[in-house]
Amino acid sequence: MEVKVAPSLLSADFGNLARDIEEINASKADYLHVDIMDGVFVPNISMGFPVLKAIKKSARKPLDVHLMIVNPDQYVERFRDAGAEILTVHYEACTHLHRTIAHIKDCGMKAGVALNPHTPVEVLADIIQDVDLVLIMTVNPGYGGQKFIEHSYDKLLRLRKLMEETNSKPMVEVDGGVNFDNAEKLVNHGVNVLVAGSTVFGAPNKAEAVQKLKGE
Ligand code: DX5
Ligand code: ZN
Repeated sequence: MEVKVAPSLLSADFGNLARDIEEINASKADYLHVDIMDGVFVPNISMGFPVLKAIKKSARKPLDVHLMIVNPDQYVERFRDAGAEILTVHYEACTHLHRTIAHIKDCGMKAGVALNPHTPVEVLADIIQDVDLVLIMTVNPGYGGQKFIEHSYDKLLRLRKLMEETNSKPMVEVDGGVNFDNAEKLVNHGVNVLVAGSTVFGAPNKAEAVQKLKGE
């Protein structure tokens, strides 16, 4: 099965962002994954709109924007204007998730929902038909370079079961601790998009790392 790769800019060299993005532009990456953290939903702060707009200027890959923020609704239009193609919100951060998903789609973006490691996939039973992407966090969000949580495989199997039961076909993305050793197993568990930060940006050749994750 063909897998897409979304390098996570969080592990890039922030002093040389344009240079690092250019290397991703020249690779077989399918998206550029951008992590937005507010210091409230997660214990870290990453970047905001000025940086995102600068990224958009350099990027030739569609932006896959992962919001780790509370109250994402109030910023949906601004993320669209900043160039997001996919906008993913956290289930745990949205009281009115159905409304938020509709809002993102109304703004012309693909809508994703992310689940923290402790959140069971079954909570998506009444929304999965409406989302374009499900993001399974395979580490606790907030930082790059953490260890993959093995229990995630079981979750991915249960997600596939839920998709069959609900006859829904969102893209399935995993984020956190993805590396050359677990990429193939993840694909065999139904993953369509691999997010990889340290594995791509820590590699001597980023384009090669992307291809290796794709099994090429
Ligand atoms: C973590 C972020 C990830 C992070 C992944 O909260 O959502 O996108 O950059 O980094 P790695 O691939 O190094 O685990
Ligand atoms: Zn992410």
